[in-house]
Order: sequence, then C-alpha cells, then structure tokens
Amino acid sequence: MKAIICNAYGPPEVLQLAELERPSPKEHEVLIKVHAATVTAGDVNVRGFTFVPPGFGLLPRLMFGLKKPKTPVLGTELAGVIEAVGSKVTNFQKGDQVFGHDSARFGAYAEYACRPAAGPLALKPSNLSFEEAASIPFGAGTALYFLRDRAKIRPGQKILIIGASGGVGAYAVQLARYYGADVTGVCSTGNMELVKSFGAAQVVDYTREDFTRNGQTYDFIFDTVVGKASFSRYKPSLSRNGRYIAVAGGPKEMFQMLWTSLASDKKVLFGTPTENAKDLAFLAQLAEQGHIKPFIDRRYPLEQAAEAHRYVDSGRKRGNVVLVVV
Ligand SMILES: NC(=O)c1ccc[n+]([C@@H]2O[C@H](COP(=O)([O-])OP(=O)(O)OC[C@H]3O[C@@H](n4cnc5c(N)ncnc54)[C@H](OP(=O)(O)O)[C@@H]3O)[C@@H](O)[C@H]2O)c1
Repeated sequence: MKAIICNAYGPPEVLQLAELERPSPKEHEVLIKVHAATVTAGDVNVRGFTFVPPGFGLLPRLMFGLKKPKTPVLGTELAGVIEAVGSKVTNFQKGDQVFGHDSARFGAYAEYACRPAAGPLALKPSNLSFEEAASIPFGAGTALYFLRDRAKIRPGQKILIIGASGGVGAYAVQLARYYGADVTGVCSTGNMELVKSFGAAQVVDYTREDFTRNGQTYDFIFDTVVGKASFSRYKPSLSRNGRYIAVAGGPKEMFQMLWTSLASDKKVLFGTPTENAKDLAFLAQLAEQGHIKPFIDRRYPLEQAAEAHRYVDSGRKRGNVVLVVV
C-alpha cells in the first residue's frame, strides 16, 4: 500500500512516499481503507518535534522515538471504510463507514490503517463526506473537552475565543454557540466573515484592535494561539471568577493552573483531552443535527503530504487541511 513515512524529525521534506505492506488487524482491531486523513497542528508538531520546550525533551523522545518517530507513518485523524475485522470484534463490521482519531498510534497517512475496535472510532455522520468527517475529532474533540468538561460552559456566559479561525477555534465557536454562550471570536481581517459564519456574535480583528483595551470582560478566554498566551495580560479581561482556558499552553500554564487554583478567583484551566468513541459519537450526532460543520481550507493528495505540512507549519491555516487518500 501507499503510505507517507517520516524517518527523522525535521522540516516537511522528511515526509516521503513509500510502499509498505498492508497491515492486518489483530483480534480486537479493525482494518480501515482510509479515504481521508488530516494534517493538524499536532501532526506538524510531532514531525518537527516542536511540541516540547527546551529542556523537557527527554521523556517525550523516549515516548515518541529518540531521533525519529517510533511509528514511521504519522497522521492521527482518519475516515474510511472497514475492510476487515479481527476475530473478537463485535461492534463494527466490514463495510461500515467510520471516522476516528488515535494520537497514541498514528498511521493515518496510508491507504490502510488498523485501529482498536474499542478505541476512539465511531460511525461517520451520514450527512458528511469522508474528508469532512476526518476533520472532526482533533479540533472538535479538543473544544468539547475544554468547553463541556473543564469549563462546564452554560447558556448566557460570555466567551472570547482567540484563534477562532483555526482547527480548534472553529469548533470552539460552534460548540460554545451550541451550549448557548455569547461568543466573541478573535482573528485577522481576512477571517472575520468566516468566524461570523461559525456563529460568533462578535468578532475582534486582532490586527486592528487589542481586546484587552476595549473594556469588555468575559467569563472565559479560550486561547488556542501558541507562544502569545499571557494569563497576566488577559486577566483584567476576565470577569470575577473567570477562567482562562490555555488550550495551547505548556509547562508555564500548567504551573499557573496549580497556582491560581489556590491563589485567585480567576483561574487557569489546562489539560489534555482523552480520545474516546463516546465523544466521537456525540460529535457525529451534532454534525448530523447541523450544530457543527467542518470547514476545509485545503485538500492535498496523499502524495503531497509534505506540501500540506508546509502549509500547516505556516500557522495560517483556517479550519482543517485534508489529505485525500482515495
Ligand atoms: N491542549 C491540548 O490537548 C491541545 C489539543 C489540540 C490542539 N492543541 C494546540 O492548540 C493550538 C491550536 O491548534 P489549531 O489546530 O487550532 O491550530 P491551527 O489551525 O494551525 O491555527 C491556525 C489559526 O491560528 C490563527 N492565529 C494565528 N495567530 C493568531 C493570533 N495572534 N490571534 C488570533 N488568531 C491567530 C490563524 O488565523 P490568522 O491567520 O487569522 O491569524 C489560523 O487560522 C496548537 O498549538 C495545538 O498544538 C492543544
């Protein structure tokens, strides 16, 4: 089968087209004929090994691979059709159209991938294409985790979403709207109409306005922009008992979460979603009911995975970037 392999951490050029043996499912696994995979911010971080700050690299390198990824085929999100099931699989059958996410195992940049049948895999929403369905788990799963599980967002609460045009932000706007919040999106001029189309009631153009100076306060500030985050700068824009949701946070925000849990009425929320089938099924239902809709910025054939990574590396992608496999 055709696959894209990564034999070193580095720039997009480390991704190479290769011919690999088709995997076969173990007894609790399914074999998926992949129709679409995506290139997420997470994927480019793994390829470049840029997801850990200097000095924190040893443990992740032991986990992911010392000099190159332990799993040469990257890609975590996919959608496709079940080609075969292992002998002990009862919840899926050959021919099922599925979508899923597995950041522990990767392997989506290929014509075929095996996934645990009891893992983060669900039936594809019937109203979406494979490309759209593949674009749901990373962004929508992350937004769901922070909004529903960590923030416990309620109708009428005010939320400011920084990076509202990105992979996570686009779904955060839609899901916050679904939960009845009053949503303000922060993006650049060219993305304002797009962010309004996701359901933001207000949009702040960060190239023209600094939201920390406009006198507004919010119950939540949901920040997806890596490197620019600053709890101390954003704190005055939080209402009393407000929460700063550090989606793109690192060790500093982790420490702030612990510190603010003791010392302040305004707190930092930090965390990592657990990928699971139940949330995927819930998101599929929301997609079928029209509450969330994936936005695809660009599509690339599988063979052009390096090109797709180069674009995502730019930090300017809108919504999702898809690799079309079939
Ligand atoms: N905690 C977790 O478990 C978790 C899970 C998923 C993702 N993440 C992290 O969350 C971050 C975001 O992921 P993503 O998929 O949303 O990334 P992404 O899609 O690559 O984000 C790109 C978007 O960011 C916007 N942007 C860039 N600078 C901005 C600024 N200063 N203000 C407002 N918007 C800005 C860009 O819009 P413009 O061109 O208009 O600037 C673009 O649309 C990544 O660092 C990722 O690693 C964390």
